[in-house]
Amino acid sequence: MDRLDGAAIAIPGVEVRVLARCTSTNALLLEEKNSRCVLLAAEEQTAGRGRRGRRWHSAPGAGLTFSLARAVRRPLRELAGLSLVAGVAVARALRALGVTRAVLKWPNDIMVGEAKLGGILVETRGSGETPRAVIGIGINCRRNSGLVLRVKRRLASLDQYIDVKDRNELLKKIVLDLLASLATFESQGLEPIRREWEAMDAHAGQKLRVRLADGRIVTGISAGLADDGGLRLTTPRGVRAVHSGRVVSSRPA
Ligand code: BTN
Repeated sequence: MDRLDGAAIAIPGVEVRVLARCTSTNALLLEEKNSRCVLLAAEEQTAGRGRRGRRWHSAPGAGLTFSLARAVRRPLRELAGLSLVAGVAVARALRALGVTRAVLKWPNDIMVGEAKLGGILVETRGSGETPRAVIGIGINCRRNSGLVLRVKRRLASLDQYIDVKDRNELLKKIVLDLLASLATFESQGLEPIRREWEAMDAHAGQKLRVRLADGRIVTGISAGLADDGGLRLTTPRGVRAVHSGRVVSSRPA
């Protein structure tokens, strides 16, 4: 098995750490108070966190589970856009690595068709001009039948599309793209990221059912992203933007 190795990942300006096992790379980095740029990758997480309080499952060596902690020079209120920033970076990196059909499902799933290849969980701390963000990314690298049975949804893994020889190389490529997207976000805001995201939108122009955070369902035709990263839906009552919710189904309009 290819082991994760900090020396093989080495990225200038980033403190790279690799753990064989931990609870959650996001949780560990959120506890730290320093302002350094830290990349923490783990072979195994015993309490991997997903969005909305769910768990993120991945067998040792079968995936990439890592978090990047970094101060972000944008106001705290704009950091909701960070999951889009990360999604664009991951999808761009995966396409360059040969996963040409990698697309994005709002707000932050990495998909191939209707199967989930990866997920992103951004957590922030601090306030003021440069809050600190922990950007956690999980990607299924190798097919794991146990996981497929446990998780009640369609899953994709990188090895279905590319030869997964060395996860260090994959991780480094993804993090370099993530740092580039973060630099774009810091200097230009969400606008260039928004355009890139829309070009990789899994559901562009489709009819969507979205479950809002309070449980209500909204249906409408997907109409790209609002300026702040919300999902725009054309409904019989006009265009509305959803900021917190989950796409539960999609079909051609
Ligand atoms: C989701 O799709 O629900 C988001 C999943 C995010 C999982 C990653 S794995 C590395 C990092 N550490 C965690 O505990 N979660 C994120």
